[in-house]
Amino acid sequence: MLDSDYSLENYVEDLRAIAAAESDPTKVAEKVKPFAKKLAAAPGWLKDEYRGVNEAQGYGVHLLHEEDNHDLAVFVLTWMPGRGTMPHNHMTWAVVAGIEGQEQETEWNRADDGSKEGYAKLEKVGEHILVPGQVTACKPQDIHSVFNPGTEISISLHTYGRHLNHTGRSEFDPSKDLERPFEVAVSK
Ligand SMILES: [Fe+2]
Repeated sequence: MLDSDYSLENYVEDLRAIAAAESDPTKVAEKVKPFAKKLAAAPGWLKDEYRGVNEAQGYGVHLLHEEDNHDLAVFVLTWMPGRGTMPHNHMTWAVVAGIEGQEQETEWNRADDGSKEGYAKLEKVGEHILVPGQVTACKPQDIHSVFNPGTEISISLHTYGRHLNHTGRSEFDPSKDLERPFEVAVSK
């Protein structure tokens, strides 16, 4: 099959095969990366509606696929210029592939031991820019924030071991040392 013929359905089949053969989230994400890159490289499947954003949220979250039990969730995320997320974790593996524009990712370390409810001390540890043709992965506990530094929307393909609103994940406000539950508004 030509890479340009690689479809969302093909991708979901590959995700199922990888998840069935491997349970370690870091290894699953590493195996998913080349397939996410391939799907993102030839986005004939990308519908105009996926360019839509939720202005209150600052980005659009478009669900392409999830299993009946919410595993193996595939989304298109569309980032408004100058907007992004607070630092957050995923509590599942994550693979992100650039489709259009730039996505700035800031990585954070957690400096406290997590024992105090609602409290988290974060330290900024790194920053890089994801562009089309690149793919990156996060472990379940990794904390990052995402920002669109450009003047146009940016678009990326996000794949997770489980739909993000079903993992019990958190977002963080480093200016107030807060941790709180994090769900996103999803367009179907
Ligand atoms: Fe994220």
